[in-house]
Amino acid sequence: MHSLHIEDFRRDLISWYLREKRDLPWRLDQDPYKVWVSEIMLQQTRVDTVIPYFLNFTEKFPTLEALAAADEEDVLKAWEGLGYYSRVRNLQSAVKEVVSTYGGVVPNTPEEISKLKGVGPYTKGAILSIAYGVPEPAVDGNVMRVMSRILSIWEDIAKPKTRTIFEKILYEVISKEQPSEFNQALMELGAIVCTPTSPSCLICPVREHCQAFEEGVQTELPVKSKKKKPRPVSMAAAVLKDDAGNFYIHKRPSSGLLANLWEFPNCETEIELLSQKEQLVRYLHDEYEADAEMEPLSGTIQHIFSHLVWNISVYAARLKPGSIPKNLLKVTEAEMQKYAFPVSHQKIYQMTEAHK
Ligand code: ADE
Repeated sequence: MHSLHIEDFRRDLISWYLREKRDLPWRLDQDPYKVWVSEIMLQQTRVDTVIPYFLNFTEKFPTLEALAAADEEDVLKAWEGLGYYSRVRNLQSAVKEVVSTYGGVVPNTPEEISKLKGVGPYTKGAILSIAYGVPEPAVDGNVMRVMSRILSIWEDIAKPKTRTIFEKILYEVISKEQPSEFNQALMELGAIVCTPTSPSCLICPVREHCQAFEEGVQTELPVKSKKKKPRPVSMAAAVLKDDAGNFYIHKRPSSGLLANLWEFPNCETEIELLSQKEQLVRYLHDEYEADAEMEPLSGTIQHIFSHLVWNISVYAARLKPGSIPKNLLKVTEAEMQKYAFPVSHQKIYQMTEAHK
């Protein structure tokens, strides 16, 4: 099948990595906890975005024990803006498990580490190879892109099963002596050279091993079928204040989208008989016993999730004197910053600030 010269490929790849690797904060030591934090952050988020979050997070929670003991509110606050918040909720449950079951030491076997919440095949391979030098592949979308080109593999990488094809190949190809450098070199190559749309083949350290380059098909790989379009949802949100200047905010449920984050009271709206404003007024009354007057602010906030698009109209709402809302938390303006809000609701807040 593939005529890869494995030894030469490893050597060319790793020596390039050792020369060219970026100084990234999670590369300063091999503390399994910090490797873990960085790999979870990097899962759906770009390196440039992750760097300041990683520095802040590991300063606030410098050890696994510190994270295990932390208040979830503070943990979510440190993740605010990174998205995919279940990542950090799972991370905190998993470090608690490491403290209670493994004496605070991150397990170093595939069987044990895979049992931890949020540790899937990619994270397993990344932690074991980078922190412990265990030759386990760490296959994410970037690694599949690189290897699909090197070996001219035309399987659809959007299909969950495809990852196992790459894992099987990489168990053979991975360096048994330097698995950490090998895995990180593949990630680095994907980030810097073997990029999605215009790979820099002319400077590629493993060009001579690349089947796709030889065939001139590097930009046709990887094959990745398109996901279906996210469903649009119309919403209205109320930045609800009382005459004393307090805000009334809502904590989202403990499961589902944006679990346990805070938000301004809001509802889905329908194109119906009632205006959007009337629907929001009724919702605040029915759901929270909050009676308010409200004014629309100009413009809407859009937030795109993988499966949904929120289109949110924003209202400045003033609580009527005597109305005491239920199930909303009353906070001062200064206290607002302690709570973690999704980016869409941070934008909602900024919109009202601009109208002051
Ligand atoms: N992407 C995923 N893991 C990474 C790492 N350890 N370094 C750089 N980019 C990455």
